[in-house]
Amino acid sequence: MFLKFEILNEVKMTNQNNNAIKFYSGESIPVELHKVRIVQKLYLKPIDERFKAIEEAGYNTFLLNTKDIFLDQLTDSGTNAMSDNQVASMLQADDAYAGSQSFYRMEAAARDVFGKHYVLPVHQGRAAENIISQVFIKKGQVIPMNYHFTTTKEHMELNGGKVLEIYTDEALKIHSNNPFKGNIDIEKLNAVFEKYGSENVAFVRMEASTNLIGGQPFSMQNMRDVRAVCDKYNAILVLDASLIGENAYMIKQREEEFKNAKIKDILTEMCSYAELVYFSSRKVSSTRGGGILTNDESMYMKMRDLLVLFEGFLTYGGMSVREIEAMAVGLRETCDETIINQSPSFIEYAVNTLDKAGIPVITPAGALGCHIDAKGFLPHVPQSQYSAGALASALYIVSGCRGMERGTISSIRDENGNDILADVELLRLAFPRRVFTLSQTMFVTDRVKWLYDNRELVGGLEWVNEPPLLRFFMGTLKPIGDWPQKLIAKFKADFGESL
Ligand code: F0G
Repeated sequence: MFLKFEILNEVKMTNQNNNAIKFYSGESIPVELHKVRIVQKLYLKPIDERFKAIEEAGYNTFLLNTKDIFLDQLTDSGTNAMSDNQVASMLQADDAYAGSQSFYRMEAAARDVFGKHYVLPVHQGRAAENIISQVFIKKGQVIPMNYHFTTTKEHMELNGGKVLEIYTDEALKIHSNNPFKGNIDIEKLNAVFEKYGSENVAFVRMEASTNLIGGQPFSMQNMRDVRAVCDKYNAILVLDASLIGENAYMIKQREEEFKNAKIKDILTEMCSYAELVYFSSRKVSSTRGGGILTNDESMYMKMRDLLVLFEGFLTYGGMSVREIEAMAVGLRETCDETIINQSPSFIEYAVNTLDKAGIPVITPAGALGCHIDAKGFLPHVPQSQYSAGALASALYIVSGCRGMERGTISSIRDENGNDILADVELLRLAFPRRVFTLSQTMFVTDRVKWLYDNRELVGGLEWVNEPPLLRFFMGTLKPIGDWPQKLIAKFKADFGESL
């Protein structure tokens, strides 16, 4: 059965590498290179019901119920579509507390794709962060990285570490044609080692397709340069590979040396520079779960006991064996360019459509989603009134599409209780792999354009209930003034009976 999966992938890979097809009109369109065989019904509720739903959710899109959502673009985490081969593989899952065949199949796939021998399964990406932070961070040490991720930073700080972001000057520019805004600034990295001394650097972390700055990739050359610095100072390099497939695809697209390379070879080379690789398989393999990989036996031994304590036995790590089977197939499918490029090519379509309409979006298009710049979209709403959160709520009201605030609400307060304003104030519209069609993509860009033309109607938000930790997940807010009612009145005037 497994042989069959590999052969199928091989056939796909040799037939076609890219889904951007040139139309007679001259335009390149991201055509779906898959057919839909299982569908889930969606509802687009009337605007008054959407208003009621966002009121009940405290203007926090995390708290919406999917029964009220048309296109769920909150995240690609655990929401990517699985392939027929992934679903089929779940039938042969081997239920066993220890020594499950499902694990060994996944281990073989992970070894093959990432080139690392030791495979530690965990229940999701942040569980890997917990174990890595506990084992490799000593109190007071710093961790330089291209950019933080929310859960990563919390785990590192809980273990007494301090995150240092050493991105390049281009990284936070909204409009740019720099192909690798996820690069680490090598001079700044050297300066960190000079300032703190290698004994005070826990490790260097590189995040593939850097999530919080708009899904921006780093180049292979940058990774090689970071490796050279780590060698110079005898430091460990940790790779967050949650979005490694997309980063590898963008290396192929944007870095001359790799234009004819196979995605699998790019993946293996990327992993070869890091002593430790971890991932959320909610993203990388379109399943649920996660993993940590290394070739270093002593590192493996240090993490093993914590794994059993926090996650479960070494051959399931808190995951269902059915998911582990699907993960094995999904990891191999990450090497199939027509699978891995589907989300980036739809994102590129959405980003280019909005950019052409003069709407401020992060360019160049990256991985995970289309990122709208709330500061540029709503310049009259100060960051202290959470413009990205307001934009997420407004877009939900006018479209039923749920995005995610990635701005000051997702940030924290300083020791004096003041908001730390986010570097970039973003509304993220995720494109889970192979979930939405092009007409759905056109619908959301259409509603974003309408909202942009009516942007002066949108106001800010203020807290009703603000949790102290990771407040963006469960916190509730309310609008400042009656701007939602005004927005709805204008929507009805323009769209009449239409949803
Ligand atoms: N690292 C990166 C780069 C991520 O994007 C995520 C999750 C994690 C680690 C944590 O993994 O969720 O499996 O525990 N990102 C999700 C998102 C939540 O919506 O972007 P997890």
